[in-house]
Amino acid sequence: MDNSFPGPKTRAALERGIPLFKNGLRFDAEMERAGQRGFRPVRQIVIDKAEGDFVWDLDGKRYIDFQNGWATNPLGNCHREILEAVEIANRRFGFHYDHPLRYDLAELLAATMPGNALPRTNYEVSGTEAAEAAVHLALTYTKRRYIITFSASYHGMGLGTKVLSGLDGDYGTYLEGWGGGVIKAPYPYSERIPAGMSEEQYTEYCLWYLDNHIPTSIAARDNIAGILIEPGLAEGGNWIPSTRFLQGIREVCDKNDWLMISDEVLTGLGRTGRMWGIEHYDVVPDILVYGKNLSGGIAPLCGISARDEIMGDNTDFLSGSTFAGTPAGCAAAIRTLQIFERDHIVAHAKRLGNIAAGIMAKWEKYSIVRQARGNGLLLGASFGKPGFAGADEKDWWTARAVRGKMLENGVWAISDHEDTIRLYPALNMDESVLREGLQIMEDAIRHVEKHGHSEGDAVAYPSGVAGF
Ligand SMILES: Cc1ncc(COP(=O)(O)O)c(C=O)c1O
Repeated sequence: MDNSFPGPKTRAALERGIPLFKNGLRFDAEMERAGQRGFRPVRQIVIDKAEGDFVWDLDGKRYIDFQNGWATNPLGNCHREILEAVEIANRRFGFHYDHPLRYDLAELLAATMPGNALPRTNYEVSGTEAAEAAVHLALTYTKRRYIITFSASYHGMGLGTKVLSGLDGDYGTYLEGWGGGVIKAPYPYSERIPAGMSEEQYTEYCLWYLDNHIPTSIAARDNIAGILIEPGLAEGGNWIPSTRFLQGIREVCDKNDWLMISDEVLTGLGRTGRMWGIEHYDVVPDILVYGKNLSGGIAPLCGISARDEIMGDNTDFLSGSTFAGTPAGCAAAIRTLQIFERDHIVAHAKRLGNIAAGIMAKWEKYSIVRQARGNGLLLGASFGKPGFAGADEKDWWTARAVRGKMLENGVWAISDHEDTIRLYPALNMDESVLREGLQIMEDAIRHVEKHGHSEGDAVAYPSGVAGF
């Protein structure tokens, strides 16, 4: 068994660092247990240097970066012009809440909004805060108490967003008493369709559930403020919803006088080959939530935009954490949007997304691939157990094994809590780098299909130890 990956410096850093953080006390025991089960001890890297489409680990090994700072570096790593803009802003303003870049950016953002319909802006530090602000805005504007969210959705790590989210697992354990105003509805994606139903039938059922079951059995129609939805289940595994579902949500909201909130922290700002993911569906939401890409990969900034009447005169809506809208964050966002326009970044992302979709569609011939999917550069593949024709049984370890093999061969992607590998190439990635990375991924799939993962290819970190 080859134990040379990752190299000694990376391994030493992980062994020193991981025990210092959450679940660190479990680390040694988990490593030993994984070793006894035949898994190699470490399949993680520590970044030493990042540039453009690549990162390097502490041992100097280079990787194609499909992880992308968790979908946060739209123009690749360490983009020079954004670094410069941030440096200038820091030197000029340091940190202050009131500075002109806030207004410059608000104007730019308003011009990007779907249907030019959401001119009001409110900044936050994280996507978590932005999603919570959107919900608070909806409740205070409508003066209602309930919000509808979805299974497998993810909106952040705050107490509020933890109860708003619907990810599987123990994500909401011990918070059961905190979600009194949150109503969870099913999200129709191909993994969750009940036996005997087609995707179309399940979509109709989910829309019926929203418009009929909830108001008659859970909360009064006129006590529901709105629906919070991701137009693409990002952290839930990069699943792509149908046009009928998103348009149906808009119809249900219009019919019931509910607000539609599109959480685009991950799908927004070009990720799907349109400026906003919701634009694929020809739907205009009432509130839009964004973050991640807006940072340009350098300085964080998140926020929400809303229709005038919702946020233009609503004194009950409270917001404004200390670091919301820093000069550095605004400078990064302004320069990012300028480069998007100058270099036709969204069109480039769309073209790359089409290339990737063409390549990945062929992967379903491998028995371990349950589904390959994408919308622009929101790309994913989900996996099943080797040896199961049609890969009926989904398998987290197979995904981990493929990701481990990719890492070993120089491609960095995400497989955290699901049976899925997610890819977020930079929107301006070089086409040849994208093709090379996908080829390495396909080779890894072929390898794991042939050898399985019992030979010890999987990542040993249990969920929650390394956090990846
Ligand atoms: C759809 C969505 N909303 C909210 C968040 C939370 O954003 P942050 O991690 O910046 O708090 C995420 C993060 O992945 C997300 O994907």
